[in-house]
Amino acid sequence: MEQYIFLSALIGFCSGQSRLDQYNLESHVSVSGHSSGSFMANQFHVAQCKRVIGAGLFAGGPYYCAQGNLIAMNTCLTLPSSIKVATLITKTQNYASSGLIDPLSNLANSRVYIFSGSRDSVVVPGVVKKQEEYYTSIITSPGTIKTVYDIPAQHGMPTDSYGGTCGSTNLEYINNCNYNGAYEALNHIYGGLQRPSSGAALTGQLILFNQAEFFKLAAPSVYGMDTAGYIYVPSSCQHGAKCRLHIVFHGCQQSREKLGDKYARNTGYNQVADVNNLIILYPQAKSNLSNPNGCWDWWGFSSSAYANKNGYQMTGVERMMLRTLGLY
Ligand SMILES: *[C@@H]1O[C@H](CO)[C@@H](O)[C@H](O)[C@H]1NC(C)=O
Repeated sequence: MEQYIFLSALIGFCSGQSRLDQYNLESHVSVSGHSSGSFMANQFHVAQCKRVIGAGLFAGGPYYCAQGNLIAMNTCLTLPSSIKVATLITKTQNYASSGLIDPLSNLANSRVYIFSGSRDSVVVPGVVKKQEEYYTSIITSPGTIKTVYDIPAQHGMPTDSYGGTCGSTNLEYINNCNYNGAYEALNHIYGGLQRPSSGAALTGQLILFNQAEFFKLAAPSVYGMDTAGYIYVPSSCQHGAKCRLHIVFHGCQQSREKLGDKYARNTGYNQVADVNNLIILYPQAKSNLSNPNGCWDWWGFSSSAYANKNGYQMTGVERMMLRTLGLY
């Protein structure tokens, strides 16, 4: 046993990646994401709705929008009038009745935050409003969906202290809009969260962990995934305080491969985590020939099951989530 610990410490040391740890966490989890990460967060929320109780969705469209089709994918960026939400609801219901996603009754009280920048030209506001229509059709409790459509943001994760000019695109797709998107989404999901001061110094650690162990059949790259991901653990959670897990999905061109740890460091989540006992898991996708921008799979490049619990990326992230909860 000691030898084993020594060996894994050594491997971790050599690769700079540690084994993802278990923490003292509440059993319910929440998710959020930007752009392709919003599509992925929505897929993960719907598929895992027993455990995932809320979602923060920045600049993404509804579940199964691309219907496994690269061509239809363009519809889900800029052609909202061609998105038929009823078709997507039917697909969702069929998946639920075949057990490929959790029973939809779990969504009844889910808390959903939806953001679209009024100047977004990549995933236009009309597409994001289809996301609202989708959730309105499957969530039965009024008032659990919050929408924000009035910030003059181009395509990008909105922050209050980091990024390019709010109304223009920049290569990192992080926009300083004097609006703390991470806080607003998390506070809608959980309620009563303390707001961190803008640009507050962090108390915890951003840890690089090995993702490869969560992909069984092949190397992570085969599924458009990186070998390593990030997890931010506030000092309180590191020392055993009861914490809650939130999973953040970056957008296309925002992975570790493209931005290093900039997305995990600068989107504002960690500061919210520090003062509210949240742990933030940042799984990392990676580009490959079928996915040159390192997007999350929301059109089927990795398999036709991409949107349900059997999708490779969906399963991989589920295992990461379960590990932090001590269930994997
Ligand atoms: C790229 O991803 C696709 C879909 O997941 C996969 O079939 C293919 O093997 C991957 N290519 C490489 C070189 O890993």
